[in-house]
Amino acid sequence: MIHFIVKFGNPVLEKPAEKVTVFDEELKRLIDDMFESMYAARGVGLAAPQIGIARRIAVVDVTFKEDPSAKLVLINPEIIHKEGRHMQSEGCLSIPDFRENVTRSQAVTIRAQNLTGKVFEKSGDDLLARAFQHEIDHLNGKLYISHISALKRDLIKRKIRKLVKAGEW
Ligand code: NI
Repeated sequence: MIHFIVKFGNPVLEKPAEKVTVFDEELKRLIDDMFESMYAARGVGLAAPQIGIARRIAVVDVTFKEDPSAKLVLINPEIIHKEGRHMQSEGCLSIPDFRENVTRSQAVTIRAQNLTGKVFEKSGDDLLARAFQHEIDHLNGKLYISHISALKRDLIKRKIRKLVKAGEW
């Protein structure tokens, strides 16, 4: 099932999500839905709060269906190592049509649980590292615009307020 993507302004995007403790069929279905919703929205990463569910779950596929082994399910993920700095243009499905340069760690290692609750570690650099950081931020109620200057952030918020007023957000 494809879920509607929640946009900036919805409080679910700015509060920390709850830890997942039950690994059952319902969780598997939710994750299938998350991949389906992410692909439908042309995204390479999606966090559960973005479909209005405040749980620590994210899905990532930086190859966008090219490589099945690149489909990653991250449950209760955390960053355990990071290094380097890298600036690149970044966007978010919950803040459509905006992009800004964001400086993040160039390489990170995460620890997370899979669908069955098994703990694993995974390292990534460049786009994958960026996706890990962006999605884990979502689970902590943080959006990428918190990493840009206050001036640029206020400009984006002002434009969004106009879109809301016009009924276009
Ligand atoms: Ni996002």
